[in-house]
Amino acid sequence: MKNICSACHGNSWNNDFYDGFDKAVQEYSEVYFKPAKAKLDELYEKGLLDKTKFFDEHLEVEYYELWRHEGRRARMGGDDDGARLRLVARLLRVQTAFCQLYGRG
Ligand code: HEC
Repeated sequence: MKNICSACHGNSWNNDFYDGFDKAVQEYSEVYFKPAKAKLDELYEKGLLDKTKFFDEHLEVEYYELWRHEGRRARMGGDDDGARLRLVARLLRVQTAFCQLYGRG
């Protein structure tokens, strides 16, 4: 991919861009997704959430949003340097969903 970018941008620009993008995805995974998944598993284990059906409890919907909707926007927002504000807004939504999930149990 960097080869394509090199047609117009210099190496340091390309490396900075991809380093930042990797960090944004890594941050999402480490700070939000992994702890949220661990919390969901814990709530299932303690019997505080019912595992037989997904989407029948509010926190399962929040967990899904954290990954599929807001999480994807936050991760993909990291690849668009011109959309920093959108990224921040998405991260706030991720934090809200995360706090709702984590505030339980
Ligand atoms: C055909 C030439 C061309 C190619 C190929 C190209 N870019 Fe660009 N890119 C530009 C131009 C022109 C700008 C605008 C620069 C400016 O505003 O000063 C730009 C801007 C950007 C910006 C800043 C956007 C913003 O709104 O601030 C990023 C990030 C970027 N490019 C990343 C990439 C990446 C990653 C690739 C490879 C996947 C790539 N570009 C390939 C020409 C190109």
